[in-house]
Amino acid sequence: MPDTALSPAPEARAGFPIEEALCEIVSNDAVNAEYRLMIARAPEAALRARAGQFFHLLCPATEAGQPFLRRPMSIYRIDRARGEIGFLYKVTGKGTRGLATLRPGETLNALGPLGRGFTLPQGTRHVMILGRGVGLATMAPLARLAAESGAAVTAVLSARSPELVMSRAELAAAGARVIEVVDTDGSSAPEEMEPHLTALHDERAFDYIATCGSNRLFRLARGLARSWGITGEIALEQHMGCGLGMCYACVIPVALPGGGEEYRRVCWDGPVFTLEEAMGW
Ligand SMILES: Cc1cc2nc3c(=O)[nH]c(=O)nc-3n(C[C@H](O)[C@H](O)[C@H](O)COP(=O)(O)OP(=O)(O)OC[C@H]3O[C@@H](n4cnc5c(N)ncnc54)[C@H](O)[C@@H]3O)c2cc1C
Ligand code: FES
Repeated sequence: MPDTALSPAPEARAGFPIEEALCEIVSNDAVNAEYRLMIARAPEAALRARAGQFFHLLCPATEAGQPFLRRPMSIYRIDRARGEIGFLYKVTGKGTRGLATLRPGETLNALGPLGRGFTLPQGTRHVMILGRGVGLATMAPLARLAAESGAAVTAVLSARSPELVMSRAELAAAGARVIEVVDTDGSSAPEEMEPHLTALHDERAFDYIATCGSNRLFRLARGLARSWGITGEIALEQHMGCGLGMCYACVIPVALPGGGEEYRRVCWDGPVFTLEEAMGW
């Protein structure tokens, strides 16, 4: 299937060549009541994954049967020195329940790296990460990418309650200043966050915003980016079939610069889109 004219050039996809990697599980442990962290040894091609890219995972069979389709999972950790990749996942259904059964020494079949990841503009000095829930899995490598390019990172992590705040340690280890907001005390409400984020911007101006995991956060991020005159991106999720741009199961409408809409494939044209392209949900 040919690319659309608006598809990013292949060279923008640092993940080529895409491979079906057989990765030995190192660990696969619960991090809280809902989420698990799976670390696996990965071959060279998989270690070339970039922030915002994902793998399509073959999920083992359980008593509920073998999931027919692979399941998309963002790259959470890329440790090139140790030759390991990591996935932070929420156990929600048949596929992720299967992933949760994998034990150290067993094999994970991971197709990837796939999709278009984050693109930090040249000269970015201060990155704002605004994320919620499992969407934050995709943000830890972005914080590392920003740190490597000399940018400071402020990560605002939103969750229902303090014990469900994800990726705190991973983002702090990447050098990010971490701020937590939660539903239980109302601090995660957009009307509470807006003045807080504006004060942070006044203190040290942001020049790029990355968001994920929440429509409310997306709208807040887009509004702030517009009023501050900066760019930003969002990592989107969609149900997937092939994960390779061929089946069009994952299309979403995006806004075109001159007005109007066009459908794009989340697996191939994304999962990272600009804040101006994304339409929310
Ligand atoms: C690019 C991408 C990256 C992702 N990264 C992560 C990640 O890092 N960690 C993580 O936990 N999850 C991630 N997801 C979501 C993950 O793929 C789904 O949770 C998983 O496929 C569910 O499979 P399942 O068989 O366990 O559940 P299912 O039985 O298939 O579904 C359980 C519930 O989750 C919903 N669901 C399933 N797939 C999706 C999806 N793609 N988007 C939205 N809702 C869905 C279903 O509608 C249903 O309500 C990502 C999705 C995409 C597209
Ligand atoms: S999942 Fe097949 S084109 Fe995106």
